[in-house]
Amino acid sequence: MRENNSGEKTRVLVVGGTGTMGRRIVRACLAEGHETYVLQQPETRVDIEKVQLLYSYKRLGARLIEASFSDHQSLVSAVKQVDIVVAAMSGVHFRSHSILVQLKLVEAIKEAGNIKRFLPSEFGMDPSRMGHAMPPGRETFDQKLEVRNAIEAAGIPHTYVVGACFAAYFAGNLSQMGTLIPPKKKVNIYGDGNVKVVYVDEDDIAEYTAKTLDDPRTINKTVYVRPTENVLTQMELVQIWEKLTGKELEKTNISANDFLADIEDKEIPHQAGLGHFYHIFYEGCLTDHEVGDDEEASKLYPDVKYTRMDEYLKIFL
Ligand SMILES: NC(=O)c1ccc[n+]([C@@H]2O[C@H](COP(=O)([O-])OP(=O)(O)OC[C@H]3O[C@@H](n4cnc5c(N)ncnc54)[C@H](OP(=O)(O)O)[C@@H]3O)[C@@H](O)[C@H]2O)c1
Repeated sequence: MRENNSGEKTRVLVVGGTGTMGRRIVRACLAEGHETYVLQQPETRVDIEKVQLLYSYKRLGARLIEASFSDHQSLVSAVKQVDIVVAAMSGVHFRSHSILVQLKLVEAIKEAGNIKRFLPSEFGMDPSRMGHAMPPGRETFDQKLEVRNAIEAAGIPHTYVVGACFAAYFAGNLSQMGTLIPPKKKVNIYGDGNVKVVYVDEDDIAEYTAKTLDDPRTINKTVYVRPTENVLTQMELVQIWEKLTGKELEKTNISANDFLADIEDKEIPHQAGLGHFYHIFYEGCLTDHEVGDDEEASKLYPDVKYTRMDEYLKIFL
């Protein structure tokens, strides 16, 4: 078990622990040697996948704590059992969007009064830099900021982990929308495809999260996940894939105007996705600023062997 300076183990509660990011954070916290607790929502009792996943964590050494978002006192009792809370609530429009549920968690943390640090569900574009974002996708940033404001108003120590595209959503598909696997013949290129993007395997984001959650260097800071070799343009990503397959794809360059042309005719989740892609691939919102007084994960933890995209894309061969 990892211990702090007083020889105590770091006790971490993961909320949203059966989700895409949450399940990786649970495993990363266990691998890091934290005493790991996972919130078990009673509402999930009939979901066979979630139940089996939760009980598989027990076999790995995690403990389950039952608490419900509709029962404030149960949340207070849950957070009282740990030092640090990490939330990975859903925040993808075409799947599920429950960022504001975390306001209940903030209330519970406030009342419990013992939490040394809270890492809310971030793991994407830095909402504090997205004030100009397009609706309806900006809802994600507005809601994440609302949660940040509640955390800061309550004086809860925190860390925000941001700044990378999940490889599963953005790299495996060569950044094409509507699919998670590489295209066979044709690929759409956003503009000239030369805007720098950050592609990171979600397991690596989870590993950085597990390392940073009790690191005194990251208290009340934003941690950008921006490992140098994974800062790539879309064209560089496509070329990595072409090299792996030995086949050249037919490329169509899409201008920003064409990309956004019919946005209002689309369903809301699709509109949100288009907006997010626009900010990432045309505006370059992940790389158009320095880390500044905040921190960058791969510099803080140079021993993490993050997955390079040539290695990542091999799973699709
Ligand atoms: N950078 C990127 O490319 C990228 C991509 C996708 C997502 N993200 C961000 O990553 C974070 C996590 O997203 P995700 O895709 O991992 O989430 P997810 O798998 O869709 O859901 C995570 C968890 O949220 C909980 N949840 C959902 N609705 C709830 C409700 N109404 N009440 C209580 N709990 C609820 C569930 O917790 P239980 O496990 O307890 O059931 C669920 O497992 C979000 O902030 C999202 O914006 C970033």
